[in-house]
Amino acid sequence: MMPSLRRHRFPPVVAASFFVRDVIFEETRVVPSHLPAVGDGRQQASSVAASGVLVILGASGDLTKRLLMPALYNLACDGLLPEEFAVVGMARGDMNTEAFRRQQRQEIAKFNTRQTFDADRWAWLESRLHFTAGEFDDAAAYGRLRKLVERVGGGTAAADNTLLYLAISPDFFTVVNQQLAAAGFTRLPGQKRIIVEKPFGKDLASAHDLNQSLLALWNEDEIYRIDHYLGKETVQNLLAFRLANDMFAPLWNAAHIDHIQITATETVGVETRGEYYDKTGVVRDMLQNHLLQMLAYICMEPPESLDPNVVRDAKARVLQAVRLFGPGDVARDCVRGQYGPGVKADGTPAVGYREEPHVDPQSNTPTFAAIKLHLDNERWAGMPVYLRSGKSLWKRGTEIVVQFKTAGEPNLLIFHIQPFQAVEIRMQAKRPGPAFQFQRAGMRFDYAETFEASRGTGYEVLLYGALNGDPTLFSRTDFVEASWRIMQPVLDTWAGTPAADFPNYPAGTWGPRSATSLLERDGRGWHECLSRDVLARSEFFAAAPAVLLNTLMLAFRPLAVEAGATIVEHGERKWDLYVVCRGELEAVGPAGNRLGVVKAGECFGEMALLLNQPRSATVRAVSPCDLLVLDADDFGRIIADFPQAEADLRRIATSRR
Ligand code: BG6
Repeated sequence: MMPSLRRHRFPPVVAASFFVRDVIFEETRVVPSHLPAVGDGRQQASSVAASGVLVILGASGDLTKRLLMPALYNLACDGLLPEEFAVVGMARGDMNTEAFRRQQRQEIAKFNTRQTFDADRWAWLESRLHFTAGEFDDAAAYGRLRKLVERVGGGTAAADNTLLYLAISPDFFTVVNQQLAAAGFTRLPGQKRIIVEKPFGKDLASAHDLNQSLLALWNEDEIYRIDHYLGKETVQNLLAFRLANDMFAPLWNAAHIDHIQITATETVGVETRGEYYDKTGVVRDMLQNHLLQMLAYICMEPPESLDPNVVRDAKARVLQAVRLFGPGDVARDCVRGQYGPGVKADGTPAVGYREEPHVDPQSNTPTFAAIKLHLDNERWAGMPVYLRSGKSLWKRGTEIVVQFKTAGEPNLLIFHIQPFQAVEIRMQAKRPGPAFQFQRAGMRFDYAETFEASRGTGYEVLLYGALNGDPTLFSRTDFVEASWRIMQPVLDTWAGTPAADFPNYPAGTWGPRSATSLLERDGRGWHECLSRDVLARSEFFAAAPAVLLNTLMLAFRPLAVEAGATIVEHGERKWDLYVVCRGELEAVGPAGNRLGVVKAGECFGEMALLLNQPRSATVRAVSPCDLLVLDADDFGRIIADFPQAEADLRRIATSRR
């Protein structure tokens, strides 16, 4: 049966009458027009994109080979590119079409994301690649480009749909734009769109100027500002989740939600991008764009339709509701960090940020930030949103944690964005057995278990949307400027006051301690989402069965301590188990004699419980330490449920002693 359109009234909610809205959408599923329809785990036939010519300015660069070409190839393999389609590249140098094709053929072998390479589909795409060399400020080059675009599109529907993709450094945006306009690209017949990569400006003023210079030549609906996070399925799913699961709607407000955490941590440092990053820093690189995009999807009013501008109105409006930091607020609600030398996740040494190539050895640039925001609207009044992002941290993971209000153990709704992709509800369940006891449990929708769809680059949906003239996933002037407006006071305050304590976190750790304090002050803590590979870094868990790992992932809580802190005290009857993620501790006997050291990957505290005795030693942090704690109750339960775990623990403990 075909899904029917009906008028759907969302239920009124207890706390806030502004929830009530009328929406027209399909009864059985809501599928934004630009997204391939997916159902029952099977990819369903989607329509082929509109005919068009994609012009890539800067086509010999990294973006083209790593992301754009693999994305186009994926679209071609899925039958989503039209017959009347061509790519026209332009870049400096002396390449011609033949050399460009050869170059891309070599690169796609490295960068394609599919399990098997379909040579026929590549040949189909390769035959549609064209190239003209030219300097970005050379008017004659744009004349040649225009002729080539007209020639490849000539006589077909592709001529009526031109995408101009600026895959170039932002330093060239203005000159390229002006040259494109001078060469008549703004007056091309049919649809034309200009696609602009991030970074979109370096602050509010420059973003505004860039908007003005674009708007002088193009209409707003011709400007497609890219944020690659919107290409991620799990980010797009935030909107689907909000729209298609009514059961959460009545809870989606400050009356029921205690707070929201949006975290994007990376294990990599700045790698080869020191020059760019040192001028940029984490606020411009991640918070102003990717994290605020996710905040917008999570916190916006549900749009009344999937019309691109209705969705984008709602997104802009929620950013405009974020309270702007006043004087003094940044010092209170924002913390910054910069990594020093440390150890990578694989145990190898990591250099500090100031020693990275092309970074100022005195640099004040933050590589970590944690920020507390408030939204001054009816839905979210009084509820904080915490943002956190950083480089060279202990694990890679982007997660949004929605913590619900409760007197007891809070329910969490977790959007695992990447690398693990899932939506999870943390709840309490009855523990199997004759006694009526609760245990933390997770209810998960795991992408890998639910969908067969092949993994893409994230750019497929963006290019597909752009070809079809669907701007839903692209940012509008109001959104971009609202996002800079939120971050501007942070940028200004931090630029004006050099951080006396930089570097303030060793590479490979959880970040600066001040990030922990930011939440502790509010009686809260960061939720560190653990994964099996993080646990497997410890000898104890390396061979643990899946059920035990799942239990541990839910039971461990993070604890960050300073050097000198005492974790367990000789003689006390407390039986928590500790796993060391980073740092070093010493075990000290009653007479103050050093009994040994405990290092990253090891655990301590297990003997007291196993032998049912008081603590036999004091354990102190020698350096700042990141620990995972298994509370005594959970530890006792796990020992009872997993006899093998107890045996392993005894073996490890005995061999250590
Ligand atoms: C980019 C930033 O926009 O996003 C990088 O410039 C960052 O510094 C990257 O590493 C993160 O993207 P992803 O998709 O790996 O989360």
